[in-house]
Amino acid sequence: MSQPALVDRFGRRIDYVRLSVTDRCDLRCSYCMPEGFKGFEEPEHWLSFDEIERLIGAFARLGVSHVRLTGGEPLLRRDIVGLAGRLATLPGLDDLSLSTNATQLERHAGALKAAGVTRLNVSLDSLQQARVEKINGRDVLDRVMRGLDAARAAGFAPIKLNMVALAGQNDDEIDAMVAFCMERGFVLRLIETMPIGETGRNAAYLDLQPVRARLQRQFGLVETAQPGAGPARYLGTPDGRFNVGFITPISQHFCETCNRVRVAVDGTAYMCLGQDEKFEFRPLLRRGASDAELEAAIRDAIELKPERHEFREAPGKIVRFMSMTGG
Ligand code: 5AD
Ligand code: SF4
Repeated sequence: MSQPALVDRFGRRIDYVRLSVTDRCDLRCSYCMPEGFKGFEEPEHWLSFDEIERLIGAFARLGVSHVRLTGGEPLLRRDIVGLAGRLATLPGLDDLSLSTNATQLERHAGALKAAGVTRLNVSLDSLQQARVEKINGRDVLDRVMRGLDAARAAGFAPIKLNMVALAGQNDDEIDAMVAFCMERGFVLRLIETMPIGETGRNAAYLDLQPVRARLQRQFGLVETAQPGAGPARYLGTPDGRFNVGFITPISQHFCETCNRVRVAVDGTAYMCLGQDEKFEFRPLLRRGASDAELEAAIRDAIELKPERHEFREAPGKIVRFMSMTGG
């Protein structure tokens, strides 16, 4: 019964959908969304939970096994726990993960775990209150810490911390973040800023290759393979207890292993973070397309997937902000 998997024009198997459930956010990270931003999607254009379930169900029948809920800030979408529960039970989906800024995580961690969310990524760029306020636009470090504690108590493992490395703003804290994560059993992921929107382009880019070499020496780390690593490359302690990932789209990209597409809250699927190719599913969903039509449309959309991003060659290309596609 199973249908052939989704494979793009470059032979890449697509088995991962990143689903943005809202483009709103309670933070204003300097590299993501500008202060005073007004261009949010109209609520009548948000896919409903029924529409999301139909679309993701169709992806799952075509071999997508991993969905990540993202935003904006996904925990701002009303009844996100209910949506997680519905997606977690879709046949074929065996991995439902969530990326969050953790400002609302304390309240939701237990229910998300019970609903079937398997893994969590939490954004944390600094361990210093004043820096969080500056980089992320709001004074939320205490709340984020409580959210992380709640997530650990709820039994999430692994919990990954995403740190966007910013030259002159938090690069002196990378070692402190390594120590923090080692102590608490978090996986650290260091991320290079991508030129997405004017915010991303103006961010203080830091090349992570020298950081990687230094951490490797200093902490005696070795290269480790992580299941489902996608475009991240990992180093870890030889005993496997600590891992740090490097997401280096600028200094070294791994587009040839890309396995994902992104669906925005309005039902537009973006084929690449760094390109404009897209496919709009909302019109199909709203005119009552059949499952077969949806599946055929997904195959058509995957045909549009470009070979690679061009963050270096064309850094001015992507005008949408990261909050629309959720990183
Ligand atoms: N470059 C790299 N990562 C970004 N994020 C947001 N904007 C950017 C950018 N311009 C990442 C943040 C957050 C995730 C949701 O997206 O790390 O953890
Ligand atoms: Fe919000 Fe995440 Fe963008 Fe920060 S990076 S403003 S937390 S969507």
